[in-house]
Amino acid sequence: MTTKVTKAIFPVAGMGTRFLPATKSVPKEIMTLVDKPLVQYAIDEARAAGIKEFIFVTSRGKGALEDYFDCAPVLERTLEEKGKTELLDILKATNMDSGEIAYTRQHEALGLGHAVWCARRLIGDEPFAVMLPDDVIAAERPCLAQMIEAYEETGGSMVAAMEVSPEATKSYGVLDVKSVNGRVSDVAGMVEKPAPGTAPSNLAVIGRYVLAPTVLENLSTIKPGAGGELQLTDAIAQEIIDGRKVHGFQFEGKRYDCGSKAGYLQATVAFALSNPELRDEFAHYLDGVINHKMAAE
Ligand code: UTP
Repeated sequence: MTTKVTKAIFPVAGMGTRFLPATKSVPKEIMTLVDKPLVQYAIDEARAAGIKEFIFVTSRGKGALEDYFDCAPVLERTLEEKGKTELLDILKATNMDSGEIAYTRQHEALGLGHAVWCARRLIGDEPFAVMLPDDVIAAERPCLAQMIEAYEETGGSMVAAMEVSPEATKSYGVLDVKSVNGRVSDVAGMVEKPAPGTAPSNLAVIGRYVLAPTVLENLSTIKPGAGGELQLTDAIAQEIIDGRKVHGFQFEGKRYDCGSKAGYLQATVAFALSNPELRDEFAHYLDGVINHKMAAE
């Protein structure tokens, strides 16, 4: 029997340099896809997977993110007085109960592994999830719920994995796979950002994890890895070296890398086209843009 996973860490202390100058004052995680900030998609996904405690690792300049999770009494009262109940419901659905959300700080951007380590005292000795809000996953069944269901069968630690092209492996943590059983693979090792031509497979790790608490202990002892940063991948790989199980999980769904401009724009188009209110008008607009461009070429 595995212990129930009820806590999730959201590391949001990165500098988001790929979106400068916007991220000079706007945290990347509250940039919007259609009408919801990226972080709201991650929170909704976590809730659907049974997460009860939401732990944010933040940094200087992320105040707007904390404000987003506060309730907005003046706005709520105004909408109530005007009888705008639909908008009021949308607004209230984003409120977090007191005590449900916790913030800790990463004082210096020393890497994803270090950010997760900063939350160690809030996790204690139980398995936990890690979610990177800039990875947005459109799926019929939310990705983390799929993973936790699989994890309840396997135990150990589990990372979300997807196939990427051989050229792309250098940008990811990559799995060395021992055996595959349906969506779950038994992992023999993990390499962060392998040099071109050296990747052990084309299964890349993306921003959803279910981790054993021993990973936090590993983060206290491992040395900085790729890019001079404390790598979460290395702390998970240490589990295998120490004889504990790590699995890859090939989720059902489409992942958008909203930490990159191209991925963010692709997600915007995909989410607009799947929104019943916008779909027809937006598809018509896109058709016009494409036809106009082809005619001009
Ligand atoms: P990224 O690699 O996307 O880095 O981090 P970044 O700083 O957010 O963005 P760029 O590359 O400069 O544009 C992946 C995730 O890890 C978090 C980020 O906030 C993001 O959710 N992170 C990264 C931290 O919390 N702390 C770090 O030191 C590094």
